[in-house]
Parts: sequence; C-alpha cells; structure tokens
Amino acid sequence: MKFFVDTADVKEIRELNDLGLLDGVTTNPSLIAKSGRSILEVTKEICDIVSGPVSAEVTAIDYDGMMKEAAVLSKIADNICIKVPLTLDGLRACKAITSDGRKVNVTLCFSATQALLAAKAGATFISPFIGRIDDMGVNGMELIAEIRTIYDNYDYKTEILAASIRTVNHVKEAALIGADVATVPPATLKALVKHPLTDKGLEAFLADWAKTGQKIV
Ligand code: E4P
Repeated sequence: MKFFVDTADVKEIRELNDLGLLDGVTTNPSLIAKSGRSILEVTKEICDIVSGPVSAEVTAIDYDGMMKEAAVLSKIADNICIKVPLTLDGLRACKAITSDGRKVNVTLCFSATQALLAAKAGATFISPFIGRIDDMGVNGMELIAEIRTIYDNYDYKTEILAASIRTVNHVKEAALIGADVATVPPATLKALVKHPLTDKGLEAFLADWAKTGQKIV
C-alpha cells in the first residue's frame, strides 16, 4: 500500500519524507487555506521535497475554468497530479487532462457509481472520503470494498486512494480491502507505529541492558 500525506504543512511533509514513508501528498483548498500560503508557492515547495504525485486541486467548477487552472498547476512541477471534483465538468476535465498524459485525482467520491464514472474518465486516482461517510452514520469502508470489486471486475487501472482517513483502524481496514493508497493526516500516519507493548518491551530491554554496564559503541 502506498502512503500519501494529507496536508499542506511543509514541515510535516519534510519530516515524514525524511523517514522514507512518503509516496505522495494530497492537498485541497481547505488545507491550502490552513497553510496561510499561496497555492503556487507552497505546492512548488512540496513538489521539491516529495518525488511522488502531489495533488493540487482546481477551484473552478466549470470545464473551461478547470482546464485553465489545470494548465497553471501543471507547470509547477512534473509530479503534479491535478485534483478535480466528482462532477460532470470534473469528469470531462479528467478525461481531457489524462488524455494529455497527465495524472488526475478525482476527489469528493461518495458512491460506487461515481467511482465507476471516474474510472471510465481515465482517472489516475479515485478518492472516496471514508471519514465523511462515517460521520453520516454509514460505514465508509463499505464504499472502498464496493469500488475494489467493481474495478477488479472490469480491470480498471484507476488507483483507489482512501481519503478522509481519521484513524489508524481506517488505514488497516483500507489495506485489508486492498485500497492502493491511503492519504493520511500527519498525526495519524505517525500513530501507525504506536503500540503499548512495543514501548513496554523496549523499556524492559533497556533496563536489563543498563544492568550489564556494556556499550555496543
Ligand atoms: C483527500 O484528498 C482530502 O484532502 C482529505 O482526505 C479530506 O479529508 P477530511 O474529510 O478529513 O477533510
């Protein structure tokens, strides 16, 4: 499974990239707004840090506007992945941009039929929003399973990018189902390593080692 980090915080991205854990980055207009920086400037900085796909989202809602914004965003770096919303105009833009050899992440997916349309439009990634579906009292993970089945039925190459991840368990469940990618907030990504028995075991090993008075170097 590939790990993307879902943030526009350059410091967090640099730290996770240095750990060797990052396969890409996703941003959205809310995350860019939270960064307080210009989209072009912060996205360029992210692309300089991470070699994998960096999703930058268009904000126009009509096809022509999306295409104009996609042209500007594409110039930032070679690893830019254009993010478009799951609307008819977004799907049309997806088809046009991917036909041009560029990567597209179709975002705000909340149903299996939407995901089917995105695959038909040639999307590189489809982003089903697990957490936001859970928030409505429905199991978001079922959507990932449905999309996995549909894409496998027809051998669609569109990668399932599990988004709106809120918990460590979301990552585990998405991996068990076979999502290709999880885009995870920095804190949740770091929390994947935590286990109380790891901490307890390490503490005991270090205490016993101290008693020996030995040093390896
Ligand atoms: C995905 O690309 C989105 O940026 C993101 O996962 C949305 O998550 P949220 O529902 O926590 O805002």
